[in-house]
Amino acid sequence: MQIGQKIIHLESVDSTNNYVANLIQRSEISHGTVILADEQFAGKGQRGAEWHVNAGENLTFSFLLENVNLSVSQQFYLTQVVSLSLISLLKKLKLTAQIKWPNDIYVKGSKIAGVLIENQVSNGMVNKSIIGIGLNVNQQSFEGFNATSLTLELGQSFHLKEVLFSFIHSFNEHWMAFNNETKQVIKNEYLTHLLNYEKTAKYIDETGEFEGKITGVTEAGQLELLVGSEIKNYDIKGIQFIL
Ligand code: BTN
Repeated sequence: MQIGQKIIHLESVDSTNNYVANLIQRSEISHGTVILADEQFAGKGQRGAEWHVNAGENLTFSFLLENVNLSVSQQFYLTQVVSLSLISLLKKLKLTAQIKWPNDIYVKGSKIAGVLIENQVSNGMVNKSIIGIGLNVNQQSFEGFNATSLTLELGQSFHLKEVLFSFIHSFNEHWMAFNNETKQVIKNEYLTHLLNYEKTAKYIDETGEFEGKITGVTEAGQLELLVGSEIKNYDIKGIQFIL
């Protein structure tokens, strides 16, 4: 089922993900509703980080996905579908982007979008999923951050709602395709766009800096790295990329 039939546009909110969670608690939101905010005063990033961007210049939005029909061990497919929807949207704008595992979107070595997915689980199944996206659109400087925006890459400004509609279209296509295809198709597409896939690069884990080669991701979403002659699996807290 499609998303984006209903869009609620807020001037200011703590976090659009929290806003969706509150509406779920009050049973006041249905599948596919998008919450868009001009400003978030407590925007959330991955690993407990903050998501802080200039008000009114970027896309910060969340939507509710119901009937996800994935087991908890398969929830990483959602990450893949969302990441690939962003990659396609950027491709339509003539930007080549890559996915820095698990779901950061990078253009030429700088981050252009981030994704925060918060799943509600019951009986081992993902019941509802809150998908939050921050896409840098018109912001022209990101002091202290290795970040970029559509404007910085393409030298023009964009109408935020048009970019949002384009994302909604892209997500609807990918979500429908995912539900009709084998899961391997999405995984292959994800790997094709994965930064450093099958390349030797530097990383940091609890033992320090090392060289490794990404050989894949597990169904649960762990990163598989070939280090020396050994395949090591990492979760998000266990590894840092050196870019
Ligand atoms: C990350 O890369 O750390 C994830 C960033 C996700 C930010 C978006 S902005 C809209 C939604 N609401 C939030 O509080 N976070 C996500």
